[in-house]
Formats: sequence, structure tokens, C-alpha cells
Amino acid sequence: MTELRTALTEDERRAHLSAEELRELIGLVDHDSSHDPFPVNGLDAVCFVVGNATQAASFYQLALGMDLEAYRGPETGHRDSRSFVLRSGSARFVLTGGVAPDSPLLDHHRRHGDGVVDLALDVPDVDACIAHAREQGATVLDEPHDTSDEHGTVRTAAIATYGETRHTLVDRSRYSGPYLPGYVARSSTAVRPEGAPKRLFQAVDHCVGNVELGHMDEWVDFYNRVLGFTNMAEFVGDDIATEYSALMSKVVASGNHRVKFPLNEPAIAKKKSQIDEYLEFYDGAGCQHIALATGDLLRTVDVLRDRGVEFLATPDSYYDDPELRARIGEVRVPVKELKKRSILVDRDEDGYLLQIFTKPFGDRPTVFYEFIERHGSLGFGKGNFKALFEAIEREQDARGNL
Ligand SMILES: [Fe+2]
Repeated sequence: MTELRTALTEDERRAHLSAEELRELIGLVDHDSSHDPFPVNGLDAVCFVVGNATQAASFYQLALGMDLEAYRGPETGHRDSRSFVLRSGSARFVLTGGVAPDSPLLDHHRRHGDGVVDLALDVPDVDACIAHAREQGATVLDEPHDTSDEHGTVRTAAIATYGETRHTLVDRSRYSGPYLPGYVARSSTAVRPEGAPKRLFQAVDHCVGNVELGHMDEWVDFYNRVLGFTNMAEFVGDDIATEYSALMSKVVASGNHRVKFPLNEPAIAKKKSQIDEYLEFYDGAGCQHIALATGDLLRTVDVLRDRGVEFLATPDSYYDDPELRARIGEVRVPVKELKKRSILVDRDEDGYLLQIFTKPFGDRPTVFYEFIERHGSLGFGKGNFKALFEAIEREQDARGNL
């Protein structure tokens, strides 16, 4: 049945990742996409608009250990904005900031702050995807078109998703350049400290969207109908409620599970939930967090902490609770090593996972990162939701938003 095996993407090959590693890291599964109405190879890039892309690009290199790969800006004839393309393993991030005073990017940033504008998808057939999306009532923001330079031709189009977020569909099979036409290759001038790991994460595991109260099922339906994604898991009611705030979450995924989109909506509770806080400060629906897969979370966390990345603290009671040991069973390191680093652990019928969440990356309490190390579990840390939310609420309370 080798013909059904999911082929590696170009990005994965370049990152020297094997299918076996990806099964462990992000739960990649074999999938025959020949009958998919909207076949998706994987995530092409996570594209951000930020207030200062020049400095953010430094931070992503110096703190997150990402490599600079490509650039576009006034120096390359693009007067509106500066964009930096960064990579770690198969994960590609694009950071863009407005330069021209009348750039629409600055208006976007004024309203939303730093955030994700595009979860670009690598697809084999842009036209087929757009035809299906249109038939299913999706909003087509950009019709299929070619752009070319000396490295070849890329075909792209875009559809709208929640809030002001989009999915650009990218077919780069006829292109060998560093990112897209108009970008030039550029590499980091930052020197990796001696002994530092080559990279701190290998791939994007999942990207979470926060949507308004009562709209989660509409977006689940959108991903089912338009992109042919299937439902992986759902968390409702007591699973993820604390005394004061609650949310509901459902997860949709592409056939090969490379693209996993949990969708959250706030649920009614005594106080404002973290989803409500996000919706208020992002001024609408948007991407809440990006989960990054690593094979050694303890090492990644140690390095990130040394470089000034701040994580949410987990209460000691989480680790000292005898229920925790009963719930998680044997994991690869002693619980005291997890406690020292505030790493959370969860187990389900398939295995376990280790995870940790950063504080918001920008000034607004909106987008943040998760780092995740999977050992067989295909879950999202359901057992940790309550412990995590209580930790988040302590932060929210300190900002006066609870
Ligand atoms: Fe997550």
C-alpha cells in the first residue's frame, strides 16, 4: 500500500525530516488524497503582521533560533512593507510590517495589533481547490493567478476564513526560489551561540482560532465542507471550564493531519473567559496560538527561558496532586523535571504528550505559542485545560481583565 503513504513535502525534505519522525512529532498519518475535493499537502507558511518586523525578525532568530531565509522590502523594490521569511525545520513564518505611511498593513495593525493574517496552505491544485471552495460558498479573496521570476512560477489564490484571517493556497511545484517571486534570499547575520541546538522546533503542530460566541460550529462546518477537513476531537462543558470562565473547542484536520485547526469559542461563565479577552483585544476573531513541535521539550524550554522567553507558570499543586501520577502513568522524565520547567503532561489511549505555553508575544494579550512533544498521543492536552486555564486566569486577573 506504499502508494497511499503520505509523501514528504519539499519543506520537510529540506529540513531532513523523515516520515517516521513526523508521525511522532505531529501525528502525521497516511492518507490517500486522490478523492479529496480540496487536497492539502500541508501548511505553507504562518504569516504575521507586526508593528516592527525588523526587530521581530531579530527576536525570532535570536530567541526562537529560527533561520532567516528570504526578504522583501523597499531595497528590493517593494516600497509598502518589509517582510522577513524565517524557518525552523519544516515551519515557515513570514513577518511583515508596514513602511509606507498609507500602507493598509498599518491600518490592520492599528486595529488588531501583532497577529496572524494568513495561514497559507500548500496545495497541489490551486484551481481545483478554488472551484470547490466557491461551489461551497467560500469567499474568494484572490483569484488563481501565476507570479514568476527567474526561479520559476508560483500559482496562488486566497479564501477568507474567520475574522480578517485568510488561507492563501500555494502551489510552488514549479518554483525553486527562496519563498515567492519578489523575495530575495537572505540569511541570518546572527551567530548561533556555541553549543546551542541547531533548531528549537521542527514543525508546526496546530494553529488555533478563536471565534465569537455561538460561531464555533459554523467554522467547523466551513472546514468540513470547504476544505474537506474531518473532526478530530471536541471539548465542551466541564472538560475545559474553571469556576470563572469556560470555552468550547473542536478540532478539524486535513486528511494527513499535517494541518490541525482547533477552533475555540467562549462559553458562558461567571467571569470573562480568556477567549473573550482575546476577542476584545484582537478586535474580533483571529488566530490564538501556534503550537510548535519539538523532539526535546525540556531542552527547548531551557534554551528559550535563558533567552528571555516567558512561559505561563503552572501551580505546584498541579505536580503534587496524586491524581496527576495516576492520570499520566510513566513518562520519559521524572515529574520533578517537568515541575522545574512548568511543563504540562497529558495522556490518552494512544500515548502521552508534554506541552507548555508562552505568555503573549506582543503587547496585547492575544497571540502566543505552545511547544509540544508528542509520544503517541494525538490529543491537544485536554486533561491540562483546567490546570492551564487557572494559570491563565491568574495572569488575566493581574491585568485587571478577569
Ligand atoms: Fe494548542
